[in-house]
Amino acid sequence: MRRVPDGIQVVPSLLSADFADLRRDIRSVEEAGARWLHLDVMDGHFVPNITFGPAWAGAVRKVSGLYLDAHLMITSPIAYIDRYAKAGVNLVTVHAETDESLEEISGRCREAGIGFGLAFRPGTDPVPYLDRYGAALDLVLVMTVEPGFGGQSFMKDMLGKIETVRDWRKDRRASFRLQVDGGINHDTLTLAVAAGAEGLVAGNAVFAGGDPGGNFRTLTKLIM
Ligand code: DX5
Ligand code: ZN
Repeated sequence: MRRVPDGIQVVPSLLSADFADLRRDIRSVEEAGARWLHLDVMDGHFVPNITFGPAWAGAVRKVSGLYLDAHLMITSPIAYIDRYAKAGVNLVTVHAETDESLEEISGRCREAGIGFGLAFRPGTDPVPYLDRYGAALDLVLVMTVEPGFGGQSFMKDMLGKIETVRDWRKDRRASFRLQVDGGINHDTLTLAVAAGAEGLVAGNAVFAGGDPGGNFRTLTKLIM
C-alpha cells in the first residue's frame, strides 16, 4: 500500500478543475509541486450533487502518478471500493454517516491494497468513531463545510474538532493523517494548520480564476 504523503500538503480538489482540460490543470499543479490530488465523488443521494465515478478516476490516473484519494460522498460505498482501487486510486474515504458497515469497508480496503479514510460531516462527533476504528484508519477527514459543493465558506467552529482529532491521535499514538476539506483559502489555511490539519484540500482556491500552479504555490508558501 502506498502511504499517505507526509508533512503539510495542499491537496488540490479536481472538483473545481476544468473538466474539459483536466490534463492541463493536473500538469499545472504537478509542476508547482503537488504530491496529492483529491477526487470528490458524489451520487446525488448522499449529497445533492453528482460528479464522477471510477472511470473518471481511471482517466486521472492515466495522466498523473500523484497520490489520489477518493472522497466518497455516496450512500453505498462498499460496492465501489474495488472499482476505485482498480482505477488506480490510493485511498478511499467514506463518511462516518454511511449506513454501511465500517468494519466491512475497512476490510475491503485492506484486501484491495488501498488506504482507508473516514470523513465527518460538520454535525458528527468523531470521538466515538475514533475510539472504535482509529487504529485501522490511514486518514481522518474533518469537513469544514457541509459536503456537496465547492466554493462554500469555511466553518470556523470546526477548528475545535480538528484539534480534538489531533489530540486523540497523540493520546492514543495512532498514525492516521489529518485532512481538512471545504473553504480552504489564504485566510483559513493557516487556521486549519494551527489546529492540526496536514492535508489541506483546496478546490476553488487552486482552480478558480486560472493559473492553478501559481495558486498552489501561493497557498503552499503560507505553510512553509
Ligand atoms: C465538498 C468537497 C470539497 C470541495 C472543496 O463537498 O468535498 O472537496 O471540492 O472545495 P472548496 O475548496 O472550493 O471549498
Ligand atoms: Zn472532498
